[in-house]
Amino acid sequence: MSKSDYDPAARSTTGAGAPAPSDRNVLTVGPNGPIVLHDVHFLEQMAHFNREKVIERQPHAKGGGAFGVFETTADVSRYTRAALFQPGARTEMLARFSTVAGEQGSPDTWRDVRGFSLKFYTSEGNYDLVGNNTPVFFVRDPMKFPHFIRSQKRLPDCGLRDNHMQWDFWTGNPESTHQVTYLMGERGLPRTWRHMNGYGSHTYLWVNAAGERFWVKYHFHTRQGMAFFSNTEAARMAGLDADFHRRDLFDAIARSEHPSWLLSVQVMPYAEARNYRFNPFDLTKTWSHKDYPLIPVGTMTLDRNPENFFAQIEQAAFSPGNTVPGIGLSPDKMLLSRAFAYNDAQRNRIGTNFHQLPVNRPKVPVNTYLFDGPMAYAHSGNAPVYATNSGGRPWADETGAAAEGWEADGELVRSAYTLHEEDDDFGQPGTLVREVFDDAQRTALVDQVAGSLLGGVRSPVLERAFDYWKQVDADVGRRIEEKVRAGAATKPAEGMGEA
Ligand code: HEM
Repeated sequence: MSKSDYDPAARSTTGAGAPAPSDRNVLTVGPNGPIVLHDVHFLEQMAHFNREKVIERQPHAKGGGAFGVFETTADVSRYTRAALFQPGARTEMLARFSTVAGEQGSPDTWRDVRGFSLKFYTSEGNYDLVGNNTPVFFVRDPMKFPHFIRSQKRLPDCGLRDNHMQWDFWTGNPESTHQVTYLMGERGLPRTWRHMNGYGSHTYLWVNAAGERFWVKYHFHTRQGMAFFSNTEAARMAGLDADFHRRDLFDAIARSEHPSWLLSVQVMPYAEARNYRFNPFDLTKTWSHKDYPLIPVGTMTLDRNPENFFAQIEQAAFSPGNTVPGIGLSPDKMLLSRAFAYNDAQRNRIGTNFHQLPVNRPKVPVNTYLFDGPMAYAHSGNAPVYATNSGGRPWADETGAAAEGWEADGELVRSAYTLHEEDDDFGQPGTLVREVFDDAQRTALVDQVAGSLLGGVRSPVLERAFDYWKQVDADVGRRIEEKVRAGAATKPAEGMGEA
């Protein structure tokens, strides 16, 4: 309901729909007397107020979003049978952008990776792609994920964020170098959400109508062009307008400047994964664009603001586990664990029946054997509640090899991935620093890292950090060490990687 739907002469109501007695005066015994227990409307207001928040997301708590449409403009049907990626398909969608570490209310412009979550309301059910504005991630084993997030949050005693804790985690887990290089570079401070790229980051499986399988990586390139804040601009904006990114997106759409992104994919033939020079399921690695060039797919445009932030953005539930026919997961251990983590978080954060809320509900008929539970809204009347049944209610019965699956066998182990020919932790970030960054970007990286290290990082983590960067690039590492030792870096940092 929008403001204009209300009759200005009408009266507010109780939750039960009866006219509310007063939204201004509580019921008392005489004008100065005590409040009485049977002022049901007042008690309802007070009690509901105490319950009007849901738990914030554990990571990615601060964000904003908008609705839009995805249009498939190219023909990638030889790679996937997914309805949303067939030529000409138009699919309604929702996007949410976020910071990772900050809580609700934290500044949008703190240095951080940005979340890039998409929900496509396809004709075959909801498809979610929950990625970031960088193509890689900090760790490759999901056992490390909660430790990583806690290291970016707050100290147990004073409740403050802490550069020492962040670098302690990163230097103790050298597979983080690639993502930390992105974070300490320009991408850690996007100017707006409209001016950043998005990536699926993981490798996913696509399956075509003939059952042929391909590995894919998603790239959403902003059509607004990439733009960034300097440290000074970002710090200033954090004080001036902590909600700058949220406001920028909302205002742009309100004035009909609809941001758009071009989706391209890298496609790897199924069999090539086994011997590709990098493990294609290692989330800390990219695939060379020379080996697997970008193939355009279509365009995503955001053109509709939420009418209600809480109902449509705060209660939005994205999950990498929400896939549709023609799209599958991959053996990436991080991705497989995410397939569980999100819906579980949402059962806790929003409630068991979070999938029934309008923003999360698919736009296709739902015939599920998920029944009842708190706040159940949708139901299937008197249809049988069990499968199989003789009452005519359909059930699923796939057997044999999973259509969107892959083969695996071996004994149960706790182990790192098997290394491919060129797998190491420092090679790709080294290439990023030497071949993608220019001189100015390299110098900015040196200043940024040195500033962050000067923000309270102590021995032995400090020496580990010098070594970490020397392994990425000998010269960059030496310059960082010199700068820190001379204490000559730019202003010391506070908060996540900020400097
Ligand atoms: C083992 C690895 C991971 C686990 C267990 C994990 C877990 C979670 C959880 C529990 C949430 C909150 C969900 C909610 O309350 O609705 C979340 C949010 C999010 N995560 Fe992860 N995560 C992992 C890795 C990643 C990676 C690799 C990426 C990006 C490539 C990512 C991107 C996001 C984004 C964008 C959100 C915000 C979703 C939204 O907008 O509602 N996460 N994660």
